[in-house]
Amino acid sequence: MSIRISIIGFGAVGQGVADALMRTAYPIEVVAIADSSGAVVDATGVDLAPALQRKRETGAVALADNAFGIDACVTDGGAAADTAGMTALDAIVDVDHEIMVEATPTDISTGGIGLSHIRKAFESGRHVVTSNKGPLVVAYSELCGLARKNDRYFRFEATVGGAMPAINLSNETLAGNRIISIEGVLNGTCNYILTRMDDEGVSYEHALGEAQELGIAEADPSADVDGIDTAAKIVILANSVFGMDVEYDDVDVTGITKITPESFKLAKEEGHTIKLIGEIREGVLKVAPKMVPKNHPLSIGGTFNLASIQTELAGRITIGGIGAGSVETASAILSDILWIEQAIRD
Ligand SMILES: NC(=O)c1ccc[n+]([C@@H]2O[C@H](COP(=O)([O-])OP(=O)(O)OC[C@H]3O[C@@H](n4cnc5c(N)ncnc54)[C@H](OP(=O)(O)O)[C@@H]3O)[C@@H](O)[C@H]2O)c1
Repeated sequence: MSIRISIIGFGAVGQGVADALMRTAYPIEVVAIADSSGAVVDATGVDLAPALQRKRETGAVALADNAFGIDACVTDGGAAADTAGMTALDAIVDVDHEIMVEATPTDISTGGIGLSHIRKAFESGRHVVTSNKGPLVVAYSELCGLARKNDRYFRFEATVGGAMPAINLSNETLAGNRIISIEGVLNGTCNYILTRMDDEGVSYEHALGEAQELGIAEADPSADVDGIDTAAKIVILANSVFGMDVEYDDVDVTGITKITPESFKLAKEEGHTIKLIGEIREGVLKVAPKMVPKNHPLSIGGTFNLASIQTELAGRITIGGIGAGSVETASAILSDILWIEQAIRD
């Protein structure tokens, strides 16, 4: 029997999940998709190709000539239905499904709409898979408590490092090991800018402009270049891998905006480069630019992410991967969905 999921948030990541599902034959049925303007629902499985096409062409996933109300949408027992009036919260509560995939924009100050979605999903008996950092940074222990109380699973591999499986690797594959420290290059935008500064000797402003032209950096790049995104990931790793109970303000954060070509010249003379490193070590959480030997794994270039995990028994385990992207991030979401599917089946 297929496992039924909703996709809440149908931007790059939500569409990546739909895209990935169309390439696979897993028994996963998408019964609801919601964006900021409405939802499409089908108890027998939303047809993903037209949904993707409609979203790309019109900007909305809901059908424009909507002929159904919310009640019809939920109770019609299989016919394709949609409603422009149906919100994501309606879909989470009213549409029967096992797993809610949450992929709305990150807000690490309040948790954003994603926090409401996740709370409501647990209260409605859904398991949750998310790529959204905000709810985890703001309310990790509350959400884990809600999941436990409702006997549901909560998986969030995609929140740290996109396709790079740092959380599940640390908690599951390395089970039995005490994780001593984690340090990583966890933001592709910063890594691209720093790589260009090192390779070409250009200024921070020049490399940032180049990244913006290529769509690697946002028009407002502050969440990346001020180290905020990396710090959010450090909070998630600290809570989920180290069992800490920390918040954003517990991280000592310095971004990359003050790094000059001269800093790179000096680093080069020593055989080093400069990377924005997020680390958890001896209970201390830190994000800061650091000199890294050129031959060290953390000197990885471009938009790549990398995490170096120091363990008690296995020594140092280093993994790298594509830290963002539509289907790349969907790969982490898919693996969490399949983990839950197996856990429920067993
Ligand atoms: N992109 C990546 O590579 C990546 C990697 C790892 C993690 N993440 C995280 O994954 C999440 C999604 O990222 P993204 O790049 O897919 O963002 P995005 O392209 O901006 O898409 C966000 C989606 O959420 C929808 N949305 C906004 N408010 C909503 C609401 N109230 N109810 C329902 N849907 C709502 C938007 O609707 P509209 O389409 O109608 O605007 C949009 O479809 C973010 O938290 C992000 O930080 C992203």
